Amino acid sequence: MGAQKIKEGIYWVGVIDWNLRSFHGYSTESGTTYNAYLIVDEKITLIDNVKEEFTNEMLKKISSIVDISKIDIIISNHSEADHSGSLKKIMEIAKNATVYASVSGVKILQAMYGSLDVIPVKTNDEISIGKRTLKFFQAPMVHWPDNMVTYVKEDKILFSNDIFGQHYATSKILDVDNELDVILYEAKKYYANIVLPYTLQASKIAEVILTLDFDMIATSHGVVWTKNIKDVVELYKRIIANEKKEKAVIVYDTMWHSTEKIAKAISEGFIKNNIEVKLFNINVTEASNILTEIIDAKYLGVGSPTQNNQMLPPIAAFLCYLESMHPKGLTYIAFGSYGWSGQSIGLVAEKLVNLGYKELLPQIKVTYVPNEELLQKITNQIVENTNKD
Ligand code: FEO
Repeated sequence: MGAQKIKEGIYWVGVIDWNLRSFHGYSTESGTTYNAYLIVDEKITLIDNVKEEFTNEMLKKISSIVDISKIDIIISNHSEADHSGSLKKIMEIAKNATVYASVSGVKILQAMYGSLDVIPVKTNDEISIGKRTLKFFQAPMVHWPDNMVTYVKEDKILFSNDIFGQHYATSKILDVDNELDVILYEAKKYYANIVLPYTLQASKIAEVILTLDFDMIATSHGVVWTKNIKDVVELYKRIIANEKKEKAVIVYDTMWHSTEKIAKAISEGFIKNNIEVKLFNINVTEASNILTEIIDAKYLGVGSPTQNNQMLPPIAAFLCYLESMHPKGLTYIAFGSYGWSGQSIGLVAEKLVNLGYKELLPQIKVTYVPNEELLQKITNQIVENTNKD
C-alpha cells in the first residue's frame, strides 16, 4: 500500500503492522498501524515516523512523493519507539532537517538515541512552513511525559499522536471506510489500556484541543478521524466523566469449578436485576480485553480459589494489571472456594479495597464445593443488594 493523500498536499506515509499481537502487555488481535504524515509545503515536513523495522517501508512511501533528502522539518510528537524508531535513519538522509519535540521529548529522544540535535517547543509555539503554520500543544502523560499534538489551522487538521488512536490494522485509512462500531471499540480499548491511568491529563488536553477548529484528526495509530470525529470525541468525554452502565464484570480462576460455580451464581443475581453481565475466566480472555469492559461497568467481581496460602497466579497478574490501569469508582465482590485456609479471598479483597472500591457484599468464601442451596443464597444476596425498587 502506497502513500495516501488525506488533504491537498498532506499524505499518510505510515505503515500497517498486520501481525502485532502484543503492545507492551496489551493484546492487539487487530494488529496496528504506525501513522506518519508528510506535508508538502515550502518546507517539507514529516510528522512523526514509525517503528524501526518498518523504516524502509515508510521511506519508500515518502520517496514516492518527495526526495527524502529534501525534508526540512521533522516533528516528533512523541518519542516512544513506535513513533521515533526511524528518526536516526531519516536524519542520516535528510541531513539538513530540523527536528522539533517538546522539552521532555528532547530529553527522551537524546536518552534513547544518543546526542541528537532537537529543538524544544512548548504549548502555543508556532513554526511557519510556508502557506501553513504548525502550532503545538503539550499533552504530557497522554501517553508519556513528552507527548504533544500539532495543529495546522489552514487545513483544519490535528495531528493527535496517541490521543484518539486505536490499535487497528486497516488498509482503509479514513474512519468512514471502516465499520464505526469496530473502530470505536478499538478506540475504547486503546483508552482503557493506554490512556486510562492519565485521565486527569487527558481531560486537561481535551479541554484545550476541543476548542480548536478542525475537521480531521490524524492519529498515530489506526484510522484518521473525519466524519466520525463527533463519535470518538463523545467516547472520550464519556470515559473521562467515568460514566457507568448497569453492568457487572466478573473475573475468576478456578481449580475444580467451585469458584466458577460461585462466579455463575453471582452473575445470575445481576442478570435477575437486569444488570448486564460479562463473565470471564482469566485463562480464556486476555486482561486488556477485560479492562475494556471494566471501564464502563459499575460492579467488579474477582474470584480465586486458595492455592496454599495465596490466590492463583493468573488472578494475581490480573490484579497487578488492574492496579496499573486503575479504573475508578467500582463496587466490588471478592469470592472463592478453599479447602483449609482460604487466604485468597481476603487477599483479593485487600487489593480491591486499596484501589478505593466499595464493597457490595462481605467476602464470599466457600469450603470445597458449594451446594445448590448456597449458590441460590449467593444469587439472592446479589439480587437484594442491587435491587433499586
Ligand atoms: Fe503509540 Fe505511546 O506510543
